[in-house]
Amino acid sequence: MPTKNDKLWAGRFTGGNDPLTDAFNSSLGADKRLYRQDIEGSLAHAAALQKGGALTAAEYAAIETGLKSILNDVKSGKLAVENAEDVHMFVESCLTEKIGAAGKKLHTGRSRNDQVATDMRLYMRGAAQNTIALLKDLIGTVLTLAEKHAAALMPAYTHMQKAQPVTLGHYLCAYAEMFLRDLQRFADGLKRADVCPLGSGAAAGTTFPVDRALTAKLLGFPAYTRNSMDAVSDRDYLIEFAANASICMAHLSRICEEFILWSTGEFNFVKISDAYSTGSSMMPQKRNPDVAELIRGKTGRVYGDLTALLTLVKGLPLTYNKDLQEDKEAVFDVCDTLEMCLKIFAKMLPAAEFNLAAMEKAADGGFMAATDMADYLASKNIPFRDAHGIIGKIVKHCEETGKTLRQLPLSELQSFSPAFAADIVELLKPETMVKRRDLPGGPSPDRVRDNVRAIRGLL
Ligand code: ARG
Repeated sequence: MPTKNDKLWAGRFTGGNDPLTDAFNSSLGADKRLYRQDIEGSLAHAAALQKGGALTAAEYAAIETGLKSILNDVKSGKLAVENAEDVHMFVESCLTEKIGAAGKKLHTGRSRNDQVATDMRLYMRGAAQNTIALLKDLIGTVLTLAEKHAAALMPAYTHMQKAQPVTLGHYLCAYAEMFLRDLQRFADGLKRADVCPLGSGAAAGTTFPVDRALTAKLLGFPAYTRNSMDAVSDRDYLIEFAANASICMAHLSRICEEFILWSTGEFNFVKISDAYSTGSSMMPQKRNPDVAELIRGKTGRVYGDLTALLTLVKGLPLTYNKDLQEDKEAVFDVCDTLEMCLKIFAKMLPAAEFNLAAMEKAADGGFMAATDMADYLASKNIPFRDAHGIIGKIVKHCEETGKTLRQLPLSELQSFSPAFAADIVELLKPETMVKRRDLPGGPSPDRVRDNVRAIRGLL
């Protein structure tokens, strides 16, 4: 921990801090991972200072060389990021130690408030781009599987009860749609994050002529912020990222929940690969879907981070307050957790083996054909509401006699309605039921292929 004399802000202090205050106040443990962004931001700021006449060419050159060598030393592990209040103080004190007086000029026209905002926006840009790339990969994997299983039958459930037959490809495309929306949300959030706060100072800008267009351009920001008070206290872009991550985690959690359920002996729809399962220390027969369960569990953790961030800014007066330092751990946890989950899920999914025979069997039998039977009567000019009632009676009859709808002979069907004819038999086969749902957005194999094509086009 720094002593009083090391502190770059200690001019007006006569007493030193309690060591506990130093430890409590320090954010270095979390923000050290921002060293790269912090140095990039400082390089851009120094360039603007030189352009505005606050640094001589020689001073700028010394700062540039000094910062670049600090960057290389930290990267290579030669220089440990430690013994400072935060990453900004660390870089500045290393620089002054290295190049002397010129280093002390770097903070001209700048505050840690616009500095940390810049660092975090640079970090967010990288995190959003990384997430978008991971989602693109995942969607590609899901679509390949969907195409492969475009015609594989399975039941769709409502209320966890078998509802109507669909295709595995249709099911998989449903998740591809969700992941595509996630990707779009991250791309949209990135637009608001990708704005340069440098030049906002502590809260009210600076008297130095820092060329804001120059710093923004050097850092690759398409624009700079329009209001200095907003710029130093805005954390919306972090909350947005965490909210987008939460929605994405919800999607991962839902599909994981299905895989957990489907891998049970009761369902037996899927076998999660050994590579993503674990055993039990006591029960030798176990093969546990730990990876899927952990993704489901970590979803709660990401929601917790989102809640932490929302609560952090609630009731916070403008502009910067130290509370905001607490944003980092939550944001980094969101980024790390989401990245890990997307990476491992994208490997677990294609390694899983679908039990297509069990799925197809589950798509038949029971009362899955009930809707199509009602539709059949409706197509014979029986009002749908009446048809619904007739089929309801047939279902009850089946329940009492222990039969499935498809097991009833035509003569028995006709005793419920004379409108039944021989053509009903073909219509109630699961593959026919699916094939006939051939409207846009439907589960028929051709529509699944359309769905795959459309999402690929949007990627
Ligand atoms: N470590 C601080 C943070 O993360 C940097 C900004 C400090 N600003 C200040 N006025 N004390 O928020």
